[in-house]
Amino acid sequence: MIRGKIVYLRGLEKEDLGLLHTYLNDEEVMAWARSRPDHMVSMEGLEREYEAELRGDDPRRRTFVVVENTSGRPIGWASIRWHGPHTTTADIGIALGDKQHRGKGVGTEVNYLLTRLAFEQYNMHKVELWTLAENKAAIRSAEKNGYRIEGTLRETVYFNGRFHDAVLMGITKDDYERLKSKIRNE
Ligand SMILES: CC(C)(COP(=O)(O)OP(=O)(O)OC[C@H]1O[C@@H](n2cnc3c(N)ncnc32)[C@H](O)[C@@H]1OP(=O)(O)O)[C@@H](O)C(=O)NCCC(=O)NCCS
Repeated sequence: MIRGKIVYLRGLEKEDLGLLHTYLNDEEVMAWARSRPDHMVSMEGLEREYEAELRGDDPRRRTFVVVENTSGRPIGWASIRWHGPHTTTADIGIALGDKQHRGKGVGTEVNYLLTRLAFEQYNMHKVELWTLAENKAAIRSAEKNGYRIEGTLRETVYFNGRFHDAVLMGITKDDYERLKSKIRNE
């Protein structure tokens, strides 16, 4: 378990797949998190996708459930991913499926917890994230933790009748070491 001030992160359990099923079939959440409002997944598909992770032996990804400290209720999920066995860069993703919990500092805290995990436990050299250029909350919450926009991918995804730009953001270990006393949120 990884504790923050507002939420904690815990590992995914089989019982969480029901909640994940709701989020991963939610038009609004999927538009922001996957650029795919039409994204749908069956329970069978989910069970297959998370099988290795639930066994504790998926080398590519760790998924966390975001749980509110005060209520003990899950309000979203987050992940850290590696694209290959010897990579020095991790990729993070966060989605607060429960909309009423957005805009209250949770995303900033989860971003911080994942970033700290990547650098201080997994010895990563760099952490990246990809988001829609119009996702002001995702961009701002990452910037508050020292991430910078490294590039804009113009018209890279299509949904809801138009093309959307995306941004790639990143923070290096040096950036993190330099900034961590300022961004530390403990
Ligand atoms: C993106 C997300 C994780 C951000 O988490 P959050 O808890 O809502 O964001 P925070 O409350 O930590 O806010 C971070 C900053 O963004 C700003 N912000 C929040 N919502 C905003 C909005 N709609 N427009 C502009 N700024 C916004 C906040 O004001 C804050 O900046 P400030 O402290 O300088 O005022 C969350 O909104 C979410 O899960 N959205 C849906 C899924 C998604 O977009 N996932 C990310 C895909 S990469």
